[in-house]
Amino acid sequence: MPPRRMNNHILPRPRRALRPEDEMAVDQKEIKKATLTIGERILELPLITGTEGELGIDIRKLRPETDGIMVNGHPVKGGVITYDPGYKNTGACISQITYINGEEGIMRYRGYNIDELALKQYRFIDVAMLIIFGELPNTTERENFRELLTNFELVDEGMRKFFDSLPPNADPMAILSAAIQCSSLYNPELRAIDPADDEDFTLAAAKLLSKVRTIAAFSYKYSIGQPIMYPNPELDYCSNFLHMMFSIPNKMHIASNMAVDALNLFLMLHADHEQNCSTSTVRMVGSTKANLFDSVSSGISSLSGPLHGGANVEVIKLLQRVNSKETTIEQLIDDAKNKKIRLPGFGHRIYKNYDPRAKIIKQTVHKLLQEFNQEDPLLEIAYTLEEIALTDDYFKAKKLYPNVDFYSGLMLRAIGIPLNMFTVMFAISRMAGWIAQWREEMLADPAIQRPRQIYTGPVERKI
Ligand code: ACO
Repeated sequence: MPPRRMNNHILPRPRRALRPEDEMAVDQKEIKKATLTIGERILELPLITGTEGELGIDIRKLRPETDGIMVNGHPVKGGVITYDPGYKNTGACISQITYINGEEGIMRYRGYNIDELALKQYRFIDVAMLIIFGELPNTTERENFRELLTNFELVDEGMRKFFDSLPPNADPMAILSAAIQCSSLYNPELRAIDPADDEDFTLAAAKLLSKVRTIAAFSYKYSIGQPIMYPNPELDYCSNFLHMMFSIPNKMHIASNMAVDALNLFLMLHADHEQNCSTSTVRMVGSTKANLFDSVSSGISSLSGPLHGGANVEVIKLLQRVNSKETTIEQLIDDAKNKKIRLPGFGHRIYKNYDPRAKIIKQTVHKLLQEFNQEDPLLEIAYTLEEIALTDDYFKAKKLYPNVDFYSGLMLRAIGIPLNMFTVMFAISRMAGWIAQWREEMLADPAIQRPRQIYTGPVERKI
């Protein structure tokens, strides 16, 4: 990665995103077309191929090219659109950041398998830099970026008024979303960065990554009525977070290496996941040219839902209900099959195989508890639930496997993270992906995201 100088630091140069004119460059030699017949019109639509062989039908000209065609004896006004609620079959962008093959259970950041990154114990910040700037950092780049993170780890003291105004026991995830917005008001220059300017962008990325960790820990401290702990510049990213979470003014918390490693792994595995719901939210907001802070804070809100990042909380609540004999595993499986519930931590839009992140986390929880010499009755329940689900015909037919959230809550419990912080932990990590995806979108200069609809309300009537 070519280095660049900034404020006497050598920093990585963020990778340029693809632009619309690059799209077809992926497969120039073999342009193929799909044929679509509507009424009497036969249309040829270009195919777009990704570097891993993914194929998409380019329908950008579908509507203008079908304007006025006759279908069932009537002209179609404006042209034909596609209908795909939930975007199950719709590609909204071209991206170079994360590749997922849900059928084979593969996930790669910028081409590197997450299993390999985990095995080689890459730290979260290395992986965040990979995702944001396009390459793993060398030693100098890593050190310089870490220095920036340290320089930016404080939040403006004025933010204390914001925190002071919150009711007791407020949800840290809601606090996080509002606080990220609020913190940008104290850094107005960040609300106006030029995404094409490497220096502006690198500083904004470092500020966000650093401050989200401080704000997350402060949110927790305020939610439990404890004094906030300021960051310690001597500590690395994860140790510093655990210090801000668990130290109190009269007792410093020194996180064990095992806890720090596990937290690094957790953050590394959640850092990006291509066009999931929260990332798509960030891109949708960003497509209006909303600034980075406004865009990512909407991502936090999107992530909070129980069908997305909030699922790790639901899994623990459910395992606790089994543990307290309020329900049984068999009952839960029956309820899932009878559509009374969706079994949290199972199923995925993309993975129709074991989620590779869940595989790594499952092994780590077991090791972590052994090394901590701890037992968690919920882990045994999770193993049994997984075993029964994976041999059940309903789950087999629908290809429902454990997703990342099934074991991630158990891992966070082992590190000592409280339940109401689980989704916040996910947001700290996903911040890396949101930053990278926002910039990629800005540099591609896309059209504003604005889906269409099929109207089925009343036809014109008089009052
Ligand atoms: N439990 C029971 N049945 C399920 C589950 C589940 N967890 N997930 C999907 N199904 C069933 C659906 O009812 C549907 O059945 P049908 O064909 O009879 O209608 C079928 O499987 C396909 O499901 P879809 O709704 O089409 O799947 P979709 O891709 O829209 O949803 C989702 C994916 C939201 C993750 C879903 O599997 C779910 O709700 N899981 C539980 C919540 C969860 O764990 N979310 C975290 C996902 S990972 C993440 O966001 C970080």
